[in-house]
Amino acid sequence: MNPIDPRQFRNALGAFTTGVTVVTTRDAQGQDVGLTANSFSSVSLDPPMVLWSLAKNSNSLPAFMGSDHFAVHILSTRQQPMSDRFAKRGADKFGGLDIARGHGEVPLLNDCAARFECRMAYRYEGGDHMIFVGEVLKFEHFNLPSLVYQSGGYALAVKKPAEYAAEDASYSSESFGRNALTYLLGRVYHQMRFQLKAFLDERGIDDVGHQVLGILGIRDGRSIGELDAMVRVTGPRVDLESLASLEGRGLVKIEGQGAGAVVHLTDSGRDLSIEIVAATKSIEDDALEVFDPTEVQVMTHLVRRLARRTSVETPPLWKKAD
Ligand SMILES: Cc1cc2nc3c(=O)[nH]c(=O)nc-3n(C[C@H](O)[C@H](O)[C@H](O)COP(=O)(O)O)c2cc1C
Repeated sequence: MNPIDPRQFRNALGAFTTGVTVVTTRDAQGQDVGLTANSFSSVSLDPPMVLWSLAKNSNSLPAFMGSDHFAVHILSTRQQPMSDRFAKRGADKFGGLDIARGHGEVPLLNDCAARFECRMAYRYEGGDHMIFVGEVLKFEHFNLPSLVYQSGGYALAVKKPAEYAAEDASYSSESFGRNALTYLLGRVYHQMRFQLKAFLDERGIDDVGHQVLGILGIRDGRSIGELDAMVRVTGPRVDLESLASLEGRGLVKIEGQGAGAVVHLTDSGRDLSIEIVAATKSIEDDALEVFDPTEVQVMTHLVRRLARRTSVETPPLWKKAD
């Protein structure tokens, strides 16, 4: 009896986090061949060598057994669709792709994090896989963030600076206060908003005005009732009185009566709402300058999820209310 359960073995191997590559070659008939592989590993620096392994039941096996060259592409975070495309059996994997040619005329893909053109140096038996060792003839490093694979799914990797190690310890032992997200997110909001406040004060825009210009900038023609429902969660209320200053300065036009009255941006209101977006964006860009793009992507994704999770039934910003 085989004491190793194949599924559990596979799951355990998934604990080893890897990058994702697409390995390509050209077969004896001149057809381009390639597949997604995360079995890639560096082998030797001098001479420069890498390896990867291919399942013996793969359609690509004859091509890699017969070819003298292959290319390994380390995929970037943007290339998850490329990984999916090359992980499908038998599909036309290269259709519509912008291909260059490398050593041995093998197809080269773009937009990857790094690319290695190899001469097939050794082939080894490895159980139900073949192990291919390539001597690297040429490589390119494009300095894009790499796609990551972990426990059977794609992942994003962010660098772990030294100061995180101290913070790791504090998550379990330190009091709730210092790491409380409510406090941290509030602090970030107020600090960033403090910088924007000077800009708004100079233009005489109060809190309600700021939010209303922002909401109408996304989609114009909201009723006072809708605006109020969207702004209410932040504290202030929207009514004819709180809109008087925007209307008096010719930034909005109000049509109709009461909560059903519809508020429109005027041309100068639209110009100002665009200026506010630009000022907000520049404060954000300044703050994010020290983060790498993957950190920004992960941070945005997590905060967006938290925003959805804590949503208090405000009408959706982008949709027209029924
Ligand atoms: C992230 C990921 C990593 C993979 N790594 C390998 C690998 O290292 N070796 C392998 O033979 N197949 C690997 N596969 C599976 C192949 O990409 C898949 O079986 C593909 O359909 C093979 O295509 P082919 O039969 O046309 O050669 C991987 C798939 C994914 C999604």
